[in-house]
Amino acid sequence: MSDMSELFDRRIVLGVTGGIAAYKAAELVRLLLRGGAQVRVVMTESAQAFIAPLTFQALSGQPVHTHLLDPAAEAGMGHIELAKWAELVLIAPASANFLARLATGQADDLLTTVCLATSAPLMVAPAMNQAMWRNPATQHNCQILGQRGVVIVGPGEGEQACGDTGPGRMLEALEIAQVVAGYFRRGMLAGKVVVITAGPTREPLDPVRYISNHSSGKMGYALAAAARDEGARTILITGPTRLAAPPGIQVMQVETAKEMLAQALEHGAGADLFIAAAAVADYAPEKVATHKIKKEANGELHLHLVKNPDVVAEVARLERRPFVVGFAAETEKVLEHARAKLQRKNLDVIIANDVSDTTIGFNSDNNAVWLLSGEDAVEYPTQDKQQLARRLISDIAARLERHNNKAS
Ligand code: C5P
Repeated sequence: MSDMSELFDRRIVLGVTGGIAAYKAAELVRLLLRGGAQVRVVMTESAQAFIAPLTFQALSGQPVHTHLLDPAAEAGMGHIELAKWAELVLIAPASANFLARLATGQADDLLTTVCLATSAPLMVAPAMNQAMWRNPATQHNCQILGQRGVVIVGPGEGEQACGDTGPGRMLEALEIAQVVAGYFRRGMLAGKVVVITAGPTREPLDPVRYISNHSSGKMGYALAAAARDEGARTILITGPTRLAAPPGIQVMQVETAKEMLAQALEHGAGADLFIAAAAVADYAPEKVATHKIKKEANGELHLHLVKNPDVVAEVARLERRPFVVGFAAETEKVLEHARAKLQRKNLDVIIANDVSDTTIGFNSDNNAVWLLSGEDAVEYPTQDKQQLARRLISDIAARLERHNNKAS
């Protein structure tokens, strides 16, 4: 059996709904327990027509939950406690009827109520007759659930209990247990799209000269690697740096602020999280000379610069706006200025650092920051940029999760 050590100590509510595949859920409980998970089983009424609660009780060593308003059960672990206890709510098998009830947000029995009350991710393993699975109503329900972030596992194809052949068969218990283990392994940003800007921009004056800054790109690259490690599909939009692109990340090379904006709008629309770590040049020459600018006889050269677009503020204005994180490099009144920027640019979070301290920030390997939101401020003292990136990403991922739970 493949490694399922990620299951160790994970708290899983397993919902069992009515269908012939309910018997496979017994094997699933055994596998999850063998991986070290804690499992609490919730059964719908129709599930109990297929398999007895006693089976799950004997396997899990825990009482099986069957009723929403059972005074005895509510005195132990009631529906809200179950919802809060869960790190994952897995429904296997998930019948067509259950998927429809979940898609419409019903709370008319214990399992649907737990699903509605939990902030844990939901995973469903559909099981039904192939015609029921193919029916546009079921497909539409699954589409709604997918958009809400519910993970849909399977179904498989093959011979069905009713004699039909086609899609709708619940995956085998081992396959589902492996998906669950993989899900925990994949980290806090699994299934999420994260777009990060990094490095400086270059604003050309003529074919050989440009205006730029000293940004090394280290912080943005470290954030991209940390997001990837948390399971995100990560897109790094980077100005010119000396850094090697981290593997497993989609890298879009840009030069100017305008090019960065175009990529940011394209990839940021519909993304889950946008982090602006780039040091975008605030101004660009109004016109780029077609030929190399010649030395003037009087020894002076006048450049006319125009303001560049604010990439992060434009992304925050998108209709399908991601959760937006910006940076603020300040030399004084760090928190005050960062807070003002948070509001002005309509960001969800801003990461502020004091660039008057030359031991941290810009070209350094270390950084110390404050993470500010509309509600709170968290200090991250001086540390290696890689470690800081991992800590910031897990903090941001947790905030994103809470934000999405509030919004949905
Ligand atoms: O306004 P300021 O440059 O201090 O704001 C810093 C934040 O805004 C950073 O997150 C930076 O990446 C972003 N920014 C941007 N486009 C600009 C200027 C800044 O995305 N033109």
